[in-house]
Amino acid sequence: MEQHIQQAIKERRSIREFTEEPVEPELLHQIITAGIWAPSGLNNQPWRFVTIRDKDISARLASLTHYAHIVEAAPALIAVYLDKEKMYDSVKDHQAAGACIQNMLLAAHELGLGAVWLGQILKNKQQVNEVLQLSEQYDLMAVVALGYPLHRTQQSRRLALEDVILHELGGITP
Ligand SMILES: Cc1cc2nc3c(=O)[nH]c(=O)nc-3n(C[C@H](O)[C@H](O)[C@H](O)COP(=O)(O)O)c2cc1C
Repeated sequence: MEQHIQQAIKERRSIREFTEEPVEPELLHQIITAGIWAPSGLNNQPWRFVTIRDKDISARLASLTHYAHIVEAAPALIAVYLDKEKMYDSVKDHQAAGACIQNMLLAAHELGLGAVWLGQILKNKQQVNEVLQLSEQYDLMAVVALGYPLHRTQQSRRLALEDVILHELGGITP
């Protein structure tokens, strides 16, 4: 199991080009289920979701981001929100939203889908709420664009461990 998780973590890439094949609602529910099994402070589960498989709504959302081409190409979108009335600690609730979204990306990958976490659209989060008919109680964290990948040739890079580990305190076992 551990091996599968580590493999999925490393294999997952942001997917920004999709086939036209629709994504079934059942798969969106599996992805949201993975999201809600993320940890949250006090297990307060402050996340809320809107699923979108409607081309007209996607087009309206596309007009609100620099990444319009991705939003328009994606057969499905999931908008991830924090419910401000369920929050208890801003930092911890935002951390929980991040954990939730990462779970969703990994679940999408496992299901053979591709996904990308879209953050630039937050610049227009008020207008997104208007399109999705949500009040200010809901604070947009991300829009996840989803679909079947057109290809899987995406590459990504990470810093080396020596660039990110500041100190290793304690004995190294031989
Ligand atoms: C908070 C956050 C916001 C992001 N916003 C965007 C975005 O608006 N548009 C986009 O194409 N990718 C976006 N990404 C995806 C990153 O560009 C991507 O994760 C990064 O380049 C590493 O590539 P990888 O996901 O394939 O490993 C975002 C990722 C995160 C975590």
